[in-house]
Amino acid sequence: MSEKIQKQLESLIARINQLDNHYYVLDKPIVSDAEYDQIYRQLKILEENNPSLIDPCSPTQRVSGGVLSQFVQVKHDMPMLSLNNAIDEHEFLAFYKRTLRAVKSKTIDFVGELKLDGLAVSLIYIDGILKTGATRGDGSTGEDITSNIKTIRSIPLRLEGPMIPERVEIRGEVYMPKQVFANLNQLALKNGEKTFANARNAAAGSLRQLDPEIASERKLAFSAYSIHGVDNTNLFNTQIESFKFLKGIGLPVVLQSDCLSTFKNCIKFYEDIVIKRDDLPFEIDGVVFKVNSFRMQSILGMVARAPRWAVAYKFPSQTATTKVNDIRVQVGRTGALTPVARLEPVVVAGVRISKATLHNFDELKKKDVRVGDTVVVRRAGDVIPEIVSVILEKREQPSEPYSPNLDLNSDEIEKARLVRKIIHFCSKQAFNIEGLGNETVAVFVKENLIADFSDLFVLKKEQLIQLEGFAEKSAQKTIDSIAKSREITLDRFLFSLGINGVGRVVAKKIAVILGTLDQVRNASREKLEKIQDIGPIVASNIFDYFQSPESIVIDELISKGVKVEEFRSQNEAAKKGFFTGKIVVITGAFESIKRNDLTEMLENYGAIVNKTVSKKTNFLITGNSPGSKLEKAQKLGIRVISEAEFLLKIQGN
Ligand code: IVH
Repeated sequence: MSEKIQKQLESLIARINQLDNHYYVLDKPIVSDAEYDQIYRQLKILEENNPSLIDPCSPTQRVSGGVLSQFVQVKHDMPMLSLNNAIDEHEFLAFYKRTLRAVKSKTIDFVGELKLDGLAVSLIYIDGILKTGATRGDGSTGEDITSNIKTIRSIPLRLEGPMIPERVEIRGEVYMPKQVFANLNQLALKNGEKTFANARNAAAGSLRQLDPEIASERKLAFSAYSIHGVDNTNLFNTQIESFKFLKGIGLPVVLQSDCLSTFKNCIKFYEDIVIKRDDLPFEIDGVVFKVNSFRMQSILGMVARAPRWAVAYKFPSQTATTKVNDIRVQVGRTGALTPVARLEPVVVAGVRISKATLHNFDELKKKDVRVGDTVVVRRAGDVIPEIVSVILEKREQPSEPYSPNLDLNSDEIEKARLVRKIIHFCSKQAFNIEGLGNETVAVFVKENLIADFSDLFVLKKEQLIQLEGFAEKSAQKTIDSIAKSREITLDRFLFSLGINGVGRVVAKKIAVILGTLDQVRNASREKLEKIQDIGPIVASNIFDYFQSPESIVIDELISKGVKVEEFRSQNEAAKKGFFTGKIVVITGAFESIKRNDLTEMLENYGAIVNKTVSKKTNFLITGNSPGSKLEKAQKLGIRVISEAEFLLKIQGN
């Protein structure tokens, strides 16, 4: 009887391990969650009824051992090294050349791996069974965090396969996936608890929980990058082969490049990863380049605490600290007032910045940014730099909370708003009126030549000539360029109105979907909200705008000769129709086309290009090594189009 139960238990455990491996390691689940839960429950019940037969490596035993009072120290078999950094291409080239020189060779094979932003851990398996998990600590001694390590589902409790070494050490990174981090912080916010500054801190905090139950809830993940203590002469001789071996015994490994035999190939790999970075489900802070051959690695050896055969080519830092020199109020394109900090110039992610937004007065009050403060600033993508926080320890005393400059009387604010709105109206992406600079617009408003956009179209040369800085010729030129801008596409027109939340992308989406100005003016809130990326707030802003007296300016514009084209007639290619009005998402790296160009091309064909896959997505266009978006699209049954297929489509085949 007990033998039969034993067999049953073994088979259930083997099945769950196989499902876990597919889910957590291979990233390709093979059964539904419900099916998984059912098998898991079956195992749990069988074990509850037969406690003496419980296998310590059973998946039900991942949370075990109770709450610890403290962590015990463990000495590492050999030091856990760190990596030297290269912070730009110049430094990476220096490393590359240094390595070639050291091995006296003209070429050398490297591999590139993702540099996961988590914590290094060491796992010891004896006879294939996970015995110890330890933190890096100071490199020679770490802490025994075995009970927390066991809760990480991508770490096998027992290694699989015919060639399991007697004793083996596996090193890798424990990290918290972006989604898990976001959920954790959201929950903390809801419960009024402290949030974590980033996924790495959250992972560190979770690994150091004395209660494995809590660690288990944090849903950490693991990725291996090296294997030690194995007589590897027959098993593997290179970094690439060792990864194959790790995979073969059931461990998740970080993404690794093929053999990179030239400097150019290394740079290409790095640049591909830069593009993919945001699509990855976890944070990375660079690419690690390692000499592929272990023989070469041992020739190169190490200096201080870092190997000479590897380097971490870091991504440019997204944050920096600097001083606030002043806080000023800026009038935005929609006329909104925004407090902006003037900073001591600082380079962030390779770009010099001297201004950062504080978004609004509530935010300014909450962060309590004061003139003279030292602050952390962040640049993310093409977003305007922002102030993350004040470093209070560095605040000079005495200091005063910021209060808006009250010198601006309301008439001045109104004028400043009007100037901003008209500048936006004339800007390149809107009416694209050449030669109408910010100062000229300010003069027009000051001299009461224009009181809204439409007045621009009835300006007379004679009026301009009277202004300082205008002569016969320049006045005529300005009048001509205003006249030239009269015909405008619907998306540009919508953008030019300066409605809150309607940037270029949203304007384009509205134009693609609704097609004509009349349709937009008459659209209900619900209709607007159905357009992807338009939430209830922006939908309301748009709806309210067209209901408000402010929108009378549209009729004024039309009566003064402005012609808004229907979106549908804008583009010949759109007539091909395949992408027209469709919601498309792009993922992966493309061989024949730059991602930005691909986006623009699709938009020209009338598609709406979105960043994330959702139920509303029509197509996912995939390049090389697509990220998690592909999986999501497949789950949702969304049509996936390869680069080659896309190229055929746009050629009209
Ligand atoms: S190799 C001797 N590979 O980066 C080599 N490290 O700055 C030492 N890391 O402590 C590690 N991804 O925590 C290696 N693919 C990767 C890595 C990686 C992340 C971390 C690791 C290490 C730190 C060094």
